[in-house]
Amino acid sequence: MRVLGIESSCDDTAAAVYDSSKGLLANVISSQVPVHSLYGGVVPELASREHIRHVVPVVERALSDADSGREVIDGVAVTAGPGLIGSLLVGLCFAKSLAYSWEKPLYGADHLEAHIFSIFLERAVEFPYLALLVSGGHTSLFRVSGWDGVSFLGGTLDDAGGEAFDKAAKFLGLGYPGGAAIDRIAQRGDPGRFSFPRAWLGPDSSDFSFSGLKTSLRVLLSTPEGKGGRIEDIAASFQEAVVDVLVRKTLEAARREGILRVVLAGGVAANSRLRSKIEEEGDTAGIAVYLPSKALCTDNAAMVALLGERRMSAGRVCGLDLNAYAASRFSR
Ligand code: KG4
Ligand code: ZN
Repeated sequence: MRVLGIESSCDDTAAAVYDSSKGLLANVISSQVPVHSLYGGVVPELASREHIRHVVPVVERALSDADSGREVIDGVAVTAGPGLIGSLLVGLCFAKSLAYSWEKPLYGADHLEAHIFSIFLERAVEFPYLALLVSGGHTSLFRVSGWDGVSFLGGTLDDAGGEAFDKAAKFLGLGYPGGAAIDRIAQRGDPGRFSFPRAWLGPDSSDFSFSGLKTSLRVLLSTPEGKGGRIEDIAASFQEAVVDVLVRKTLEAARREGILRVVLAGGVAANSRLRSKIEEEGDTAGIAVYLPSKALCTDNAAMVALLGERRMSAGRVCGLDLNAYAASRFSR
């Protein structure tokens, strides 16, 4: 089965083609970073307008890269939620129109599930596994027992991990989005130079909290010690606090669940310190860690096309009354 996937939940307009036997045939992403960086964050109305401008050329490019016309596409998958509602509706309405006019089945993918299974674009992982999804909008742990078995174990009570990185980068004058910039400069810094708080939230909690950490950075930057500190050391120390919590809580949740495999997903999974630390500590704990390549951690449509291919192959299709949803469907 060959599936066209479309993703527009936030500020990336993306389209991809995934084939059951040949794998990923095309993966096109049009980023809106230059539009939003001016404002220090994503402006929802501007994002919707940009998606309207880009969705047709991005889909056309993906179909051409995959050398696939409508006659060889067997289904259309699109992100239905969660995300910015205006952005989602652009991709969704376009996908519905295509499915209707091409007379192809339609599948509405959950953005979080698409991230959670994105590792399968590169390699298979045995079920069950524990997934840490950490991005600009989410920081959650899931037990994944099969293509239809995703259960939520816990999530952030306030800011997402990526949001913490982005806000820290803003305080440090590193621009937007700032996760990758912090990652870069932290490589030249001392992670033990400044001490930042870690919110453990109790010994058995699978929840996260990053808002106190953000406040603590703000406070540090108003003191003479912070003002005189090297930005590389501040970034490295801040990053270490986020990574410490993500790694320890993920491995503890895996142990509690009796699971020996951990999969990372979402934009922050591209963080080099997170990747090396979880591999190292997973190794010590006897837990196998699976990391998608960095390009497949951030938002893309390849993961949407893959999930659509698996679900539609199993007979799961959606009607043209499919609607977008802004809030996550996963909760305890
Ligand atoms: O998954 P994603 O592309 O979009 C959402 O669904 O949110 O994640 C974007 C987030 C941003 O907050 C960005 O700063 C963060 O991922 N990010 C990183 C890195 N690369 C992207 N955070 C830390 N280190 C990185 N290397
Ligand atoms: Zn995402």
